[in-house]
Amino acid sequence: MNVTKQQILDWLQAVTQTISENKDYLTELDAAIGDADHGINLDRGFQKVVPQLSQLETKDIGTILKTVSMTLISAVGGASGPLYGTFFLRASTAVTGKEELTSTELADLLQAGVAGVIQRGKANLGDKTMLDALSPAATIFAELVAKGNTTVDALQQAVQAAETGMKQTIPLVALKGRASYLGERSMGHQDPGATSSYLILKALLETITSDSKANKMNGVK
Ligand SMILES: Nc1ncnc2c1ncn2[C@@H]1O[C@H](COP(=O)(O)OP(=O)(O)OP(=O)(O)O)[C@@H](O)[C@H]1O
Ligand SMILES: [Mg+2]
Repeated sequence: MNVTKQQILDWLQAVTQTISENKDYLTELDAAIGDADHGINLDRGFQKVVPQLSQLETKDIGTILKTVSMTLISAVGGASGPLYGTFFLRASTAVTGKEELTSTELADLLQAGVAGVIQRGKANLGDKTMLDALSPAATIFAELVAKGNTTVDALQQAVQAAETGMKQTIPLVALKGRASYLGERSMGHQDPGATSSYLILKALLETITSDSKANKMNGVK
């Protein structure tokens, strides 16, 4: 089952909703080890994405993701604006001109996005950043797809890996971003960026599984 352009648009809508619902939670996490703005920053960015979605219906997936990138870079600010902006920019260039994505193309999209975050933010795994959720998810997704798993199965495992990575940030000492100024005092708190990354990937899984359930009920394979 390929991921359609409509599903990508639905995903972006679902991301906006989950970020909005978790705005206070993400901001509380950032209050503990940062400057209490992560939920506010991301919500501001994605709220600006939504009005553009209807105009993007005629564009290819690369153009859609590139527009998201530009919007996040201009509206989010802080560390996470350029980082998520780079994620979506690199993701977009991996799928230029595509109207739908095979599981391999979705794997390429995720891996390109993660490579962009690494290049831009220079974080390593275990530095207590969004990368701790994003990177294991993209890696396991690509591995499972290469072994012949379906998009849904691979994405389920990827979201689990993101959740595990997110929870594993709790005992870590932050080595990048504002939280790193706290040194050992950053221990014992979950990273806000790893949390938003998990929510973004979970929204993708939920979008795709709700469609695949609906298709099964309608007899579509
Ligand atoms: N170098 C980095 N690489 C990857 N992720 C990072 C990096 N620096 C920070 N982050 C992520 O960004 C999140 C914080 O995002 P937020 O929107 O709160 O920006 P900010 O740190 O407040 O920005 P600023 O310090 O510029 O105001 C962190 O929880 C972390 O996951
Ligand atoms: Mg912050």
